[in-house]
Amino acid sequence: MKTIIEPFKIKVVEAIKMTTQEEREKVIKNAGYNLFKIDAENIIIDLLTDSGTAAMSDLQWAGIMHGDESYAGARSFHRFYDKVHEITKFRHIIPTHQGRAAERILFEILVEPGKFVPSNTHFDTTRANIEYNQGEAVDLVIEEGKDPQSLHPFKGNIDVNKLENFIKEKGAKNIPLCMLTITNNSGGGQPVSLENIRATKEICSHYGIPFFLDACRFAENACFIKKREPGYENKSCKEIAQEIFSNADGCTMSAKKDALVNIGGFLAMNDDDLALKARNVLIVTEGFPTYGGLAGRDLEAIAQGLDEILDEDYLHYRIRTVEYMGERLDKMGVPYLKPTGGHAIYLDAKAFAPHIPVDQFPGQAIAVALYIVGGIRSCEIGGIMFGKNDPETGKYIPPSLELVRLAFPRRVYTQSHFDYVLEVIEEVYQNRNNLKGFRFTYQAPLLRHFTAQFEIIE
Ligand SMILES: Cc1ncc(COP(=O)(O)O)c(C=O)c1O
Repeated sequence: MKTIIEPFKIKVVEAIKMTTQEEREKVIKNAGYNLFKIDAENIIIDLLTDSGTAAMSDLQWAGIMHGDESYAGARSFHRFYDKVHEITKFRHIIPTHQGRAAERILFEILVEPGKFVPSNTHFDTTRANIEYNQGEAVDLVIEEGKDPQSLHPFKGNIDVNKLENFIKEKGAKNIPLCMLTITNNSGGGQPVSLENIRATKEICSHYGIPFFLDACRFAENACFIKKREPGYENKSCKEIAQEIFSNADGCTMSAKKDALVNIGGFLAMNDDDLALKARNVLIVTEGFPTYGGLAGRDLEAIAQGLDEILDEDYLHYRIRTVEYMGERLDKMGVPYLKPTGGHAIYLDAKAFAPHIPVDQFPGQAIAVALYIVGGIRSCEIGGIMFGKNDPETGKYIPPSLELVRLAFPRRVYTQSHFDYVLEVIEEVYQNRNNLKGFRFTYQAPLLRHFTAQFEIIE
């Protein structure tokens, strides 16, 4: 059949409050033009993030009732441990309340001031946690990964030559770990190939550097490998995922993505000494090692979610949804980051609104317009999130890409919701010459996009 249907039936629904354009204009103005500051009830289609927004299945909700809330050694921890172990084979699996808690613990025990952590592209919380420990987060994605029009099948790959040169230049002793984000969220949800994962592992092993994965979207990455990497077409996504993890020394995981839950995460590794240190930090800040920052029921839901995410029909439908959006945008001539990634469409803001200079944040102009026109909440991933001012000259340094991410919650929206989103994008694109830039009226020193306030540049 040509039509790929959602491979699930809907058992529970949540009403969407419909708003008018006039109402939305007031709401966004009162929020200082920051979409993070709008109440969710004033959003029609919420594509702010795919994190923690999944619809849980009947079996996950049943798992919630089975949760064992014992403080220590709960049955739910063992179910969680066994499932994560089955996929990753890591010896030590430490539950945390979400991904950034795993990052905070890992960097607290490994990163000292002046040390470097290379990656393909660090996600914003990863970067912030490294910088919080006075380390430097270094992005070494391949050149194609920075070109929104390149059709390279694995644009999330790290440039292994750059990585090796970087290690030689800085010295392996100054690099406490190397990471790969799969899929590469900040670079457009683009996958990393197994060939690249293996090559990274080889370099890290050669220089004695631990190699960790930021594994939030490991299943979507595995599905891309199956579809695009020669030699993997007949392997199951689960087998591919197992091979991915077999190359790493550990991982951080936000279970809010590919474990299909609304809260949760973990830190996993093989090194016994490191795990001991991690558990000591965990006990002080998150909780006892068999629950981390979670309830027993959350551990049950994660275990079940990890089973469901590796379902081939689900993954096929998931990746195909994003592809479909890309095909329709192509027909409208709307510029977006190609090829489509795993969890989102990323509009290419520089090409969409070329009349707005990068220091006036074209991505923010588009995101605000999508809200006003159609009540869609998206997320600027460009200068507001990653731009910096040179500490000496004060000159603005923009990131290489200015994107607007429309992230798709898992199992939440149907085909007609997606068609509505396309209609809204088309209207904003047709009127793109009327879009205006923005300037900050408030910004915090770290992760400024969450709380910033703006005004329109008239
Ligand atoms: C690639 C990546 N790493 C880490 C995180 C942080 O996870 P959490 O939001 O659970 O703290 C995210 C969240 O969006 C992410 O996309």
